[in-house]
This record gives sequence, C-alpha cells and structure tokens, in this order.
Amino acid sequence: MGNYFKQLSIALFFFLAIAATMVLGQGTRVGFYSSTCSRVESIVQSAVRSSFNSNPTIAPGLLRMHFHDCFVQGCDGSILIDGSNTEKTAGPNLLLRGYEVIDNAKTQLENACPGVVSCADIIALAARDAVVLAGGPGWAVPTGRRDGRVSLASDTSNLPGFTDSVDVQKQKFADKGLNTQDLVTLVGGHTIGTSACQFFRYRLYNFTSTGGADPSINSSFLPQLQSLCPANGDASRRVGLDNGSENRFDSSFFANLRDGRGILESDQMLWTDASTKTFVQRFLGIRGLLGLTFSAEFGKSMVKMSNIEVKTGTNGEIRKVCSAIN
Ligand code: HEM
Repeated sequence: MGNYFKQLSIALFFFLAIAATMVLGQGTRVGFYSSTCSRVESIVQSAVRSSFNSNPTIAPGLLRMHFHDCFVQGCDGSILIDGSNTEKTAGPNLLLRGYEVIDNAKTQLENACPGVVSCADIIALAARDAVVLAGGPGWAVPTGRRDGRVSLASDTSNLPGFTDSVDVQKQKFADKGLNTQDLVTLVGGHTIGTSACQFFRYRLYNFTSTGGADPSINSSFLPQLQSLCPANGDASRRVGLDNGSENRFDSSFFANLRDGRGILESDQMLWTDASTKTFVQRFLGIRGLLGLTFSAEFGKSMVKMSNIEVKTGTNGEIRKVCSAIN
C-alpha cells in the first residue's frame, strides 16, 4: 500500500511539474530568440536608432504605438494591419507615428532569420529602444509574442480618452491587469512627445460656465498655452506634453502636474484625484521613505503592459509583412 502511494505521489509530482512548465511556457521570456535569431535586438535597435537620428520625435511615436497595440487585442501587432476598418483607421490611432521603423526592422529580420520574429515583439523592443534613446531607462524585454489575425477599428474603445475621469482611466487599466500605480507610471510616458492642440484646446477657452479656462491650469501658464493654440488657430499644431522637456525622458512631467502645467485634462486630473496624486507625489519624492523612482518603476510597468493578453505558443502567427495578416 505504502509503495502504491509512493508511486502515486511521484506520478503526481511529475504531472504537476509538466503542467507547470506548460503553463509557464505559455508566457513570454527574455531571450526567446537567443537560438533562433540571436541578432534580433541589435537589428531592431539599429533600425530605431537610425530613424531617431534623423527625427527624434519618432521615439514618442513608437512608445505610444506599443501602448495602443497592447490595449486592443493584446500586444499582438494588430495596430500595424492596413485596410479599411482596421485599428489604424480609428480616431485614437490616426496620429500614431513610426510604422516605417517597424517595417524596416521587419525587412532586415526577414533577411537574417526568415519567419521567426513577430511584429508584436518588434514593437515591444522598439518602444524600449526609443525610451533609451530619449534618455530614459532600459529594461529587459521578454519576447515570444505571436502576431494576431484580428484588427478592428471598433475594438479601440478600450483605449483611454483624454477627457476620461480618473475612475474611468483606472477601470480601463484594471481591465488589462494594471493597477493605479501602473496607470500613473505609464502615463508618465508623456514625459516625451507632443499633443495636437485639438486634444486640449477646449480647456483654454469657454471651459467653465462663466466662459473661463479650466481652473486646474496654472494661471501663469495659461497665456502661453493660449498663444500656442489660439481659439481659431491650427488644431494640428503640436505642443510638448511635458512642458519644457518634451524630448527628454525624465520625471519633470510629474512636477508639471503638481504645478498645474499638465497639457491633457486626463493627465492633470491625476493630481486632482487623491488615489493617483499619492503616486505623483511619491515620484516627486514628497513622500519621504515611500518615494518611488520613476525610471525603475517605468521599466517594471512597461513589462507588465507588454504582456497584456499576449498570444504565444501556437496561437496567432508570425507575419511575413507587418502590415498584413498572412
Ligand atoms: C489615460 C491614459 C492616456 C491618455 C488619455 C492618452 C492620451 C494621449 C493623447 C490625446 C495624446 C496626443 C496625441 C497626438 O496629438 O498625437 C497622447 C500622446 C502620447 N501618449 Fe498618451 N495617453 C495615455 C496614456 C499613455 C501611455 C500609457 C503611454 C505609454 C506608456 C502614452 C504615450 C504617449 C506618447 C509617447 C505620446 C506622444 C506621441 C507623439 O509625440 O507622437 N500615453 N496621449
């Protein structure tokens, strides 16, 4: 009898070990391509670097692309698909930039190791490389994502909007497994890049019932914003999201929120709401021992974001061309 139980428990142990490997093996991992395409990281990095050297605004473009890819159908490259009614064609994605960088990296990768590297992984690596080039932190990017076969404009309603309340922002992040700290940290990605006047001009004129501007805007900052975005001026004119430091990945974005110098209403609200303000303060070191270091937290939250609803193993496909399903 004792022998029987011993054998049973050994069998159970192996069964659990295999089951655990199968479950864990479903995820992404750092170095996924080490034996199949060892040059993947250097190829992506050089594609990002060469485009950044001629146009540094490609860095925020690639970071935002990764976020918009991950929140819709998971991080599966669905943002890259051309065609009518694909994600690309939806309102929130119309101003995304950097598709050519992904295509360029993919072309080189197809020469080096055909059919191996997913477009979803290229975006994840390129977003990290873009942050590093803008002076931000680096982090190890787990790979092994596969490309999705669905891309629908109608799915983009998952993306947070610039007028969303903090509760709605938190809910949209929670739906993707990201907590309030991740929200504040990842929105800190607005430390680089710009916004078109069209997304915040309504805050500058006739915002209140008495015809005033959004009272959360610092009164000495308001005239600057009004001159950059006149009431009847060019709605596509671009303004730095991190006033005074739009090309540098640093923590000054949070100081701007504290000072009423946030550009998007959704960003400024992170300072108004108590649950998010705590994290902004911790990034600013106001909370003493509870201080958080933005550069370290950003990498951690990016890894979490980059694992949203990933397709691995035999799910999805490895696209031949990033803009089309095979
Ligand atoms: C509540 C969440 C968020 C909202 C409502 C939001 C909204 C926006 C809007 C309206 C713009 C301006 C787009 C344009 O005019 O081209 C923008 C730009 C940008 N967003 Fe966000 N965003 C959010 C979160 C994030 C996250 C999580 C990241 C990355 C981790 C991110 C990265 C960027 C970057 C880098 C830009 C600048 C793009 C450029 O210069 O082309 N955003 N965002």
